[in-house]
Formats: sequence, structure tokens, C-alpha cells
Amino acid sequence: MRRPIIVANWKMNTSLSEASILASSIKHDLGSVNAEVVICPPSVWLVPVAEILHGLKNVFVGAQNVFWEQRGAYTGEISPKMLKGIAKYVIVGHSERRQYLLEDLEMINKKIKATLEVGLTPIVCIGEEKKRRLEKRTYIKPERIDIAAHMFREISCIFRGITNEQMKEIIITYEPVWAISTSDKSEAATGTYASAVIIGIREKIAKLYSQKIAQEIRVLYGGSVDRKNITEFLDQSEINGCLVGGASLKLREFLAICHEAGKE
Ligand code: PGA
Repeated sequence: MRRPIIVANWKMNTSLSEASILASSIKHDLGSVNAEVVICPPSVWLVPVAEILHGLKNVFVGAQNVFWEQRGAYTGEISPKMLKGIAKYVIVGHSERRQYLLEDLEMINKKIKATLEVGLTPIVCIGEEKKRRLEKRTYIKPERIDIAAHMFREISCIFRGITNEQMKEIIITYEPVWAISTSDKSEAATGTYASAVIIGIREKIAKLYSQKIAQEIRVLYGGSVDRKNITEFLDQSEINGCLVGGASLKLREFLAICHEAGKE
């Protein structure tokens, strides 16, 4: 089995000293864990966090967002070219940016392309807003396709113009908006629910690209992941890792998640 990926999305949290303490503790504890760990601090702390984590072979830095042009008159924005050398990954299309900053599918498409252009890996978030009733029908193929209908439309738009070669570099995160810990009445999806939708996502990728790419592309789950439920997701063969928000800010909780993920 491939080494799982655990992405920490700190969102707009941490002071410089909190970020430095978290990063130093992560360096100290996770240097040899058998998982790939990606720390995504707020952009102002990218450089200090990258300096702390520098030299580790399995812990990397990611940005939470990026702009779609490489330079120019775009006040307040950060380009992929600027991130190159600091970060290895970029979260693109997170639902909070879509909700609060009206990021749309075309912008996400341009951001993915600009990120790939400089050799960074986009972690592309997709997910439905409302929970569907699927548990009992999970394994019926047409239903599964219905489940993922929303994602199918998104996938067609956000990956428009992305080549087969580029697609192999992308990481997709299935993150149902209703499952994010800060959303109203949030609850994590179950492993079976997430897996059923991810199977649907892979089927769509197979149609648009190839069966091989659909099998090889890494797909993560995100939404209320913690130390108690992490194995439920990683036990699913379709799920290659998790995106962790709230729990990634609690040091002991996050270390436990990564160690759990690193177990053979
Ligand atoms: P959560 O956030 O783990 O707090 O639900 C995940 C995310 O929004 O990236």
C-alpha cells in the first residue's frame, strides 16, 4: 500500500509563536513516521514553518491558496512562482474560499493550471454541500453515480484542459461541506460513505482520462477527521489519506493522527 498523506490545514489560525511551536514539535515527533505529512500554515507563516521543517524527508509545507497568474498587478495575491522553493503543495478550491470569496470553478481551473506550471502539487477540494441519504444504497452502481453527480459536474469543469500527464500529479480531496467541523451540525462522513463517493469520482476520472490514471490518482478524505475516526477512512482502499482542519491545531491529537496513519 502507498504511504498515506495527512494534510494539516491550519486555516486562519496561529500566531507566529504558536505556528513555530507546532512546527517544531511536528519536526521532533514526525520525522520518521511512515506517512507523508503536509503542513499548510497561513501564508505569512509559510517561510518560518518551512525553515523549521527543512530537511525532513516526509514532512512538507503547503499553501492554503494561490493566485492563477505568476506576476502582475494583483494586490494582495501570491503566485505559484513565489511559492516555489517554499511550499511543495497548494490547497486549491477549498469550500471556505468558494463560500466567502466566491471562488468559482473557472478560477479553480486556472489556479490548478498555474500551480502545475511551476511544478507544485495542487490538492484540489471537491464535495457536495448537503448530505445525501446513501448509506443503504452505497453499493448499487447507478445510485453511486447519482451520489457523485454533483462532483461529476465539478470535475468536468475544474480539470478542463488538464492533460493526462498533469492529472497524474494532482491530489484530489473529497471534502463534503456538511462534514467540515465548523459547519452547522457537522459530523464526519462514514468510511463507507466517503469510499462510495470516491469510487464515483474515480469512475469519472476513468471516463475523462484513463482507468490507470483513475486508479493511481491520490484521493483524500476531509471533514471532521480526528484520532478516533482516522483509521475508519484509511482502512478504505479507495482513500489515500486525509485533510485535517480543526484537529491539526491540537498538537497531541494531530501527532496521534499521523502515527495512526503511519501504522502498517
Ligand atoms: P475540519 O476541516 O477537519 O475541521 O473539518 C477540514 C477542512 O476544512 O479542511
